[in-house]
Amino acid sequence: MDQNWTLEEALAHYRRQGAPGDQGMLVALLREVQGENGGVLPSWAVAEIAAVYGLKDTFLSAVIKRYPGLRTEEAPHRLELCGGPRCAGRDAARLAAFVEERYAVRPGGVSTRGGFTYRVTGCMKNCPNGPSLKWDGTLHSRADEALIRKLVDGG
Ligand code: FES
Repeated sequence: MDQNWTLEEALAHYRRQGAPGDQGMLVALLREVQGENGGVLPSWAVAEIAAVYGLKDTFLSAVIKRYPGLRTEEAPHRLELCGGPRCAGRDAARLAAFVEERYAVRPGGVSTRGGFTYRVTGCMKNCPNGPSLKWDGTLHSRADEALIRKLVDGG
């Protein structure tokens, strides 16, 4: 995995190559995203590709199904931690370390132990109430380890 790789740059790169109109380039992008995310296409990445390229989710899913090498992960939940500067000053890094160790996951990956896809995002625009996290898209303020355990483990 390339530490400097970002989905945003990949999207811009493949757009210059003709994606999404050129389906070969769209598939090349999907393969790259999959390669950068441990061999599966995370649902957040698929959603972002659809949004940025203005594609229907159903169309993108059909493309993914048509190419046998491509596969999406099916984790039931989604955990996003804010990696913005204000939250970083409020112990977000410690929370990230907790998540990564307890649920055996790296940013951009899937935790089979916790049943969620995991990513560290930019500022969630909730700085005064950080550290911020989103669980299945719902924003939570003043996140701590107890909140994460409650969300993920249910107690
Ligand atoms: S830096 Fe985390 S919400 Fe702004």
